[in-house]
Amino acid sequence: MNISELLLPISDFLKCPTPQSWIDEAIKPENLPTLLVDHANCELKAAQTAMLLLRRYAVDKDSGDALLAWLKPYEDFVYRKVGNGDFSDHVNLSKKLISKSNFEHGDELISKMVLLIKEELHHFQQVWEIMQSRGVEYDNLTASRYARGMMKHVRTHEPAKLIDTLICGAYIEARSCERFAKLAPHLDQELNTFYVSLLRSEARHFQDYLNLAQKVSVEDITQRVDFFAKEEAQLIDSDDNEFRFHSGY
Ligand SMILES: [Fe+2]
Ligand SMILES: [Fe+2]
Repeated sequence: MNISELLLPISDFLKCPTPQSWIDEAIKPENLPTLLVDHANCELKAAQTAMLLLRRYAVDKDSGDALLAWLKPYEDFVYRKVGNGDFSDHVNLSKKLISKSNFEHGDELISKMVLLIKEELHHFQQVWEIMQSRGVEYDNLTASRYARGMMKHVRTHEPAKLIDTLICGAYIEARSCERFAKLAPHLDQELNTFYVSLLRSEARHFQDYLNLAQKVSVEDITQRVDFFAKEEAQLIDSDDNEFRFHSGY
């Protein structure tokens, strides 16, 4: 599948394209450190979200602990400045995850989310390596309003909570994928190649989240997807007061 075929379902799913004014801002050389740091943060956040879903819905206590241990060095480094940022000795999940028996879609959630976490941690490491080679410090950066703006609409009762969280995951992945594609042609060769290389996995992550949402729901999710589509477009296509990977303009 070529890139434009890959992006077709994404642009179909998103209610609005990224505004040109965001792209203009994102490609300013002075914004590159912010773009990279926030991108790294987003990769770790993506891994954490998937881990949270596994721990909340799919795996037993020991497996949950193994998941926590898997992500801990990354979280320690980013949030607590612990370690030197070399994760080469710590790349893998240490045990096979055991699913809880009372959740019908547990095995599928586990297989999709474990692969997703692996890929997001790999992406995180790739961004971090590019940052290091360019002398970009891992500064603390406040999160954009975007993910919060989506997640505040997640309903609080089950299974609606899980369904909504999965739909939000699909939107965040789809928007990331769309932005990587939009940015790539404007960036230098190294970043161009890197951003294009991310498209395939992010496009798959979007589909995985969406498919899981439909499987968990007994009703058709179209209406709920539509609701989040409008909220998402509103966050993307409006004034924002700070530049971030998922900001408005
Ligand atoms: Fe990623
Ligand atoms: Fe992703």
